[in-house]
Amino acid sequence: MKKPFYITTPIFYPNGFLHMGHAYVTTLCDVLARYHRLSGDQTYFLTGADENTEKVVRAAKAVGKDPKIYLDEIVKSFRDLFDSFEISYDQFIRTSDEKVHWPGAQEVWKRLVASGDIEKRSYEGLYCQGHEAFVTEKDLVDGKCPDHGEAPVLLREENYFFKLSKYTKQVKDKIEKGEIEIVPQSRRNEILALLERGLEDVSFSRPADKMSVGIPVPGDPSQKIYVWCDALVNYISALGFGRADQTLFDTFWSGVTHVIGKDILRFHAAIWPAMLMSAGLPVPRRILVHGLIISGGKKMSKSLGNVIDPLALSHEYGVEPVRYYLARYISPFEDGEMTLDSFKSAYNADLANGLGNLVSRVMRMASTHLSASANVSTVSIPAEYAAAFERFDIQAAAGVITKAIAEADQTIQEKAPFKLVKTDKEAAVKIIANLCTRLFAIGKMLEPIMPQTAVTIQTLVRENKMPDAPLFLRKE
Ligand code: MSP
Repeated sequence: MKKPFYITTPIFYPNGFLHMGHAYVTTLCDVLARYHRLSGDQTYFLTGADENTEKVVRAAKAVGKDPKIYLDEIVKSFRDLFDSFEISYDQFIRTSDEKVHWPGAQEVWKRLVASGDIEKRSYEGLYCQGHEAFVTEKDLVDGKCPDHGEAPVLLREENYFFKLSKYTKQVKDKIEKGEIEIVPQSRRNEILALLERGLEDVSFSRPADKMSVGIPVPGDPSQKIYVWCDALVNYISALGFGRADQTLFDTFWSGVTHVIGKDILRFHAAIWPAMLMSAGLPVPRRILVHGLIISGGKKMSKSLGNVIDPLALSHEYGVEPVRYYLARYISPFEDGEMTLDSFKSAYNADLANGLGNLVSRVMRMASTHLSASANVSTVSIPAEYAAAFERFDIQAAAGVITKAIAEADQTIQEKAPFKLVKTDKEAAVKIIANLCTRLFAIGKMLEPIMPQTAVTIQTLVRENKMPDAPLFLRKE
């Protein structure tokens, strides 16, 4: 039986264009999704937009647009970016979609109520508009939220609370037993330490008169379901949970991997599993927590003004070099620095000089000296490659490819088949054919990362042809 592999990106706030940090998590998921699809797993890839938020309303007002029109425009820009980045998602969920998402969110709410885990309380606290969450003094640096650079506001209001504290032990147990697998280990330790200190109950609704958007609380229209309780449910509402047809949910939920940035770990590894337990549903199987893209020593973020625009960069260099860079140079487990300079040097070294040059050299020799295309019926892929993907380490998988490129270069250097052909044609032809087979394997291994380049390389080897133009032009 095919293994279900269900992979999700966080749903993005449509209050501005996506930057390289967002392109990173989406590309990471796409590379993993493509790998699993190619391996024969039954794969489903979800992404989307987190729309029921005042952030969107504020952003629309700032540019003088109607929030709905603004939302549609921004969400279109997300989808256009994903299309040009070759993101092979199966579904794009919008949490403003009353047919697709709301029934699931309201069903979860009703189940939390039925479990006795929702309670109305009067609440006063510090609210970070960036996080859309209440924060505590200890989350702040110099009185400001370190992620958003702004001071939280004091809010007092009536909220429905979710009794999260009640689930501390159960969530901790599931993580310790590996029923919820958190990758990497350092993030698992971080969340276990947080659980050890205990969880506090969380606000799960806000007064409807303070939220112009959002899903009404079932049975109490004076309140709306609060951002996180609404947003997290997207992962199951997209699969039909709460709707008539739950086939996708039944097929895929048990094979879920949530991919998230470390800034939203607590929501995914503590609140979400607790909600699911309270609702009588299975907890998420795996959570992969990647680091952040850093630029100039700080998290790349619109509010800090240090963003790289993925579209602009891809217009200059092509999309696949950007995908390659994200896979090869940003660790899926830790923060990674990315600048336009680091990108350009990697592009020139690895793609223009490395891969592009190798393809030209091998195929020039092959098309001149081989009477037929090399045999590619069996190519050998290092076991390390699949092993790296199985532990989500796309950087290591990309490293296996870089190594194969370097080794092929070395063979050309050491054995100089282009010279040998003059003295011992038979031996030279053997070496060239072997280089073609290895190039084909490189083309195979590139499939999840650079899908078009992968096809180009495989086709050149199959047809025993030189590329018409260099695959990657050097940039000065
Ligand atoms: N809407 C919430 C997620 C809800 S999921 C149920 C949200 N949205 S976001 O648009 O602010 O961020 C989406 C994702 O982008 C998060 O995982 C966040 O970590 C990631 N990134 C934002 N900036 C980033 C970098 N500079 N680098 C890498 N990822 C970054 O949070």
